[in-house]
Amino acid sequence: MTQDEMKKAVADAALEYVESGMIVGVGTGSTANFFIDGLARLKGKIDGTVASSVASADRLKGHGIQVLDSNEAGQLPLYVDGADESNRYLHLIKGGGGALTREKIVAAASDKFVCIADESKLVDVMGKFPLPVEVIPMARSYVAREIVKLGGEPVLREGFTTDNGNVILDIHNMEIMEPVKLENALNGIVGVVTNGLFAIRPADVLLLGTPSGVDKLE
Ligand code: A5P
Repeated sequence: MTQDEMKKAVADAALEYVESGMIVGVGTGSTANFFIDGLARLKGKIDGTVASSVASADRLKGHGIQVLDSNEAGQLPLYVDGADESNRYLHLIKGGGGALTREKIVAAASDKFVCIADESKLVDVMGKFPLPVEVIPMARSYVAREIVKLGGEPVLREGFTTDNGNVILDIHNMEIMEPVKLENALNGIVGVVTNGLFAIRPADVLLLGTPSGVDKLE
């Protein structure tokens, strides 16, 4: 199986969590795109979606799927999204595509978070994938200095602006031994909008694509 076939397999498996009348939270990235394309087949069954990025909203609309404002949709029963890394506790690193803040909002407002990923994303210790931090532009330099104090190497994502008009610092070379502690520490730096650790609110289910099929961790 190719990596794309594994992504499609997990996206199809996630469609089984979609029930009639649901408003579905939809994530961002290449794996989430397979889910969006599959969701098009079920569009008559659901009451709409909430998208975690402008890119996903555009793709959903392209399929004729209704996209609702998160403030109007209320609490969601289901959120489906990819990840850049996951450990076996379903703590995640997200934000490789820069959509971490909206992803975290949709995850927080959802009863069930189903994460879909190919097996390359499962790690024992997180941090090999640079951890994204969304920052108010004025605070960029201050936040970078604070991240250095925490032991990381912040690198500005050049030429990138988030959907919220902010910048991203990617933290390199940091072994994340205590994800909840680090998530809280980063949240506590003035000027940080959010960070890409999803440990305080981890995934509830991880559907992992492997060459022999879809493994389920929960
Ligand atoms: C987007 O900001 C990310 O959080 C994505 O969910 C993550 O990068 C996974 O993307 P892929 O499915 O493309 O690997």
